[in-house]
Amino acid sequence: MSVRIAAAKRLNLSVLLAALLGLCSAHVFAAGNAEAGQAKSLVCASCHGQDGASVIDASYPQLAGQNEKYLARQLKMYQSGERDVALMTAQLIGKSEQDLDDLAAYYASLPAKSSEATGSDAEIALAQQIYKGGIASKGVAACSSCHGPDGAGNAQAGFPRISGQSVQYTAAQLIAYREGERKSDEVYGGMMRGVSRGLSDREIAALSDYISGLN
Ligand code: HEC
Ligand code: HEC
Repeated sequence: MSVRIAAAKRLNLSVLLAALLGLCSAHVFAAGNAEAGQAKSLVCASCHGQDGASVIDASYPQLAGQNEKYLARQLKMYQSGERDVALMTAQLIGKSEQDLDDLAAYYASLPAKSSEATGSDAEIALAQQIYKGGIASKGVAACSSCHGPDGAGNAQAGFPRISGQSVQYTAAQLIAYREGERKSDEVYGGMMRGVSRGLSDREIAALSDYISGLN
């Protein structure tokens, strides 16, 4: 009798474990479908371009080549209003979580485009120093430690590609983090609010130009 109970308990435990593992792997591998995403992206092209990277307006970010994890998170935060930008929230009304995952997969599959920095040598040198070494006295961490030496980000961690964005977009985001206006969660957004707190307007301008030309 007690042997049967123990066996039944083991069985239940292994069923539970299998179910949990199934859930975890579904969570890890629940990726969007890029092909389905392409069909859903027609409405996005008017601002983000057919290729996800055309500069239609310098305040519209490049999406092509951005990592899927980051894109999916941002889309969910716009939809919930956590990243509070009415213009983008309006684009996502009525979209399912699958739609957002598909759109993220689609844009992640497109090739990123780069541009060129136009700042003076002094500005580029200042930006490069901060990018690679941070500013210890102001608690600014080196950008390269999370966004990579070439600004391509870290797809696995969901740290965004920042290279190739317009100067205007990058500067606007750094200011929004610094002023606490870009309110993403504590874990991810908290990192950037911490990093940007010590940056002056001049440093933000220099960094934004430098980053636009990284590749
Ligand atoms: C009317 C113009 C417009 C349309 C249409 C539009 N977007 Fe955007 N999108 C923007 C602007 C402007 C921003 C930057 C907003 C901000 O400052 O946070 C943005 C930001 C984003 C971002 C954040 C990128 C980043 O680097 O953090 C994603 C992802 C995005 N859009 C995806 C989409 C998708 C997918 C669609 C179609 C369903 C779409 N957008 C339609 C204008 C638009
Ligand atoms: C500890 C890791 C870390 C460091 C260091 C870091 N970042 Fe970030 N950065 C992130 C994460 C995570 C996000 C996404 C946060 C979110 O979801 O809002 C981000 C977002 C950004 C964005 C917005 C991208 C977009 O498409 O909207 C910019 C711009 C940026 N970082 C620039 C910088 C610069 C410049 C530095 C150096 C001064 C820097 N980061 C240092 C982790 C980091």
